[in-house]
Amino acid sequence: MKALRFCLATLCILISVSVADARKKAPKAKEPLKVLAIGNSFSLDAVEQNLWFIADADGTPMIIGNLYIGGCSLERHWDNASKDAKAYAYRKIDLKGEKTNTPKTSISEALADEKWDVVTFQQRSPDSGKPETFEPFLGELVKYVKARTKKGVRLMWHQTWAYETGSAHPGFKNYSNDREKMFEAIVAASKVPCSKYGLGLIPAGTAVQSARLSEAKGNVTRDGYHLNYYGRYIAALTWYEAITGRSVAGNSYDAPHVEPWMKELALAAAHNAVVSPGKPQVCGPEKHIAVRDPNLAKEFTLPDALKMADGSPVNTPEQWYGARRPELLKLFTTEMFGASPAAPADMRFELVESSDNALGGKAVRKQVKIILDKQGKKCIDLLVYLPANAKGPVPMFAGINFFGNWAVCDDPAILIPSDKDLQKRYGIISGTERGVQSRRWSLDLILDAGYGLATFYRGDVDPDFHDGWRNGIASLGFKEGQKWPEPDQWGTISQWAWGLSRVLDYMESDPDIDATRVAVIGHSRLGKTALWAGAQDERFALVISNCSGAGGASLSRRGIGENLQDLNRHFPHWFCENFHKYSNREDELPFDQHELLALIAPRPLYVASASEDSWADPKGEFLGALEAGKVYEFLGKKGLSAKEWIAPGERAADGDVAYHLRPGKHDILDWDWEGYIAFADRYLK
Ligand code: GCU
Repeated sequence: MKALRFCLATLCILISVSVADARKKAPKAKEPLKVLAIGNSFSLDAVEQNLWFIADADGTPMIIGNLYIGGCSLERHWDNASKDAKAYAYRKIDLKGEKTNTPKTSISEALADEKWDVVTFQQRSPDSGKPETFEPFLGELVKYVKARTKKGVRLMWHQTWAYETGSAHPGFKNYSNDREKMFEAIVAASKVPCSKYGLGLIPAGTAVQSARLSEAKGNVTRDGYHLNYYGRYIAALTWYEAITGRSVAGNSYDAPHVEPWMKELALAAAHNAVVSPGKPQVCGPEKHIAVRDPNLAKEFTLPDALKMADGSPVNTPEQWYGARRPELLKLFTTEMFGASPAAPADMRFELVESSDNALGGKAVRKQVKIILDKQGKKCIDLLVYLPANAKGPVPMFAGINFFGNWAVCDDPAILIPSDKDLQKRYGIISGTERGVQSRRWSLDLILDAGYGLATFYRGDVDPDFHDGWRNGIASLGFKEGQKWPEPDQWGTISQWAWGLSRVLDYMESDPDIDATRVAVIGHSRLGKTALWAGAQDERFALVISNCSGAGGASLSRRGIGENLQDLNRHFPHWFCENFHKYSNREDELPFDQHELLALIAPRPLYVASASEDSWADPKGEFLGALEAGKVYEFLGKKGLSAKEWIAPGERAADGDVAYHLRPGKHDILDWDWEGYIAFADRYLK
């Protein structure tokens, strides 16, 4: 019997040893991590798009809940909890990453739905830097949640982010409309609940701030306060590292519309924020330090405008017009600016206001709505001045303005859209006053010379920040269900240029205007736009670019001033996605900017620079015009008359390609307009 017992005991030991061995060998299924946010649209930005995927890429199964009410404050959360109000959209992402949304859910129901490991709190954004608004609600909520969750639940504080400079959010006034001030207040305020209740901190606001500081124009919001794709990714990374304690370095998940350099920056920003919450740090890949000396250009070989892509020569003007020009136009379309749709079938024009006695009797004023869609939601507000007493249809200058029609001239009759409309259409109000930009629009000179002016605000067509194509006209080029341009579809500059063509459509319908005699003009980014508009739309009789710089008249291969990396990083919305692959790879471009200028031939072209505008590489603009002139000459026109770069204050304006170098800074002033008007007089009078 003893022997039998011994045998059984030995067998048991053996069995249990081998079970333990097997356990050791079998990979242990990871327990899912269950995270619930009691929040609002800011927690939606942080947890609903990327967090699950970041966790998945790191081998962490995750269940995510978000108790959502737009703009919800701690006070309201507590009120809902105390009444057990079924007031929330309970948005949940399950183990497979599938999303559900259960309306009319109470906090207690969501708390009971899973054995949550982490529950987070946050304050509504206008009060996020005001700890005096947290109590007694947060204290009550903490007790409430603890009583309904498992032992060992981790309670955390979601540090939200500051609004962007210029944000139209009414709560911004709590921080004197100052981004840094709001950020400092948020950092200070988020320490309070952490020390009072021992909450863990999710420093998303710090990571977002780092991203802003790391890039000159690092835009992380889509409307001045909600995060865009990039911002959402940064916030989610911060959540992941703060919750799990696992570094996000090297995380393999690629968030939508986040380029590799942005990813590098986002990973660093999130990690640094968790390590040093409250201390935003410049991080990410190195910034480009521009070479500004015009004589330090790299060695480069320009593509020959008069050779086909396959190397065969263009021998006759017919070959230029029939083969090479279309080939180049297609390359600029698909590789740089992105393709645009035709004019909308629903387009119509509405005269909103007019006067025959504007500007003290000097002008006729018309304010016209160019309505682009059936519903009348997408429109261009066009401001037109014509010289009074014109005998017959007049020639025109047409260009986009930076800050609103009312900034072009202090005429009190220029309509200003309502704040609500501005916010909806433009995202950010820049708070400009009447006439602040009048020095850039030499209206007296224009009208006295017998020309009219037609202009609209850039934000009417597309706001000048990356809003994920929500506010502008981008969707007019989309197929049903499409939300984002294809890699070769229009970016903002193409959209602006398209807007200029719609202005030309309008002008064709106005008997007071001679639409065959229109000069398209633009300064800086809008100079790039004027060139692209003129290159594509051959109805523009004359094209003028003023200080258009990189992506405009300047040769990209010179490597002076702003380069393609700068353009694509700081203004990721300007060009199509395909163009981004040429950042720091200028030599791989299938063209250079002289060929954009050549697309305007044989129509007259005026390229202008300012002597101190080294960011735009004035000499590169000159060389672009000089090179384009070769195509003009091939077509029987006269190229640029100067063969060497001219001195500040000089003009080389007697060819069909003209150039001048205004002494001074990046701007457009009377001296520029004097040159443009004299040039236009040769062709449009
Ligand atoms: C920035 C940008 C330029 C652009 C300019 C402007 O400086 O880098 O490419 O031309 O803004 O539009 O004023």
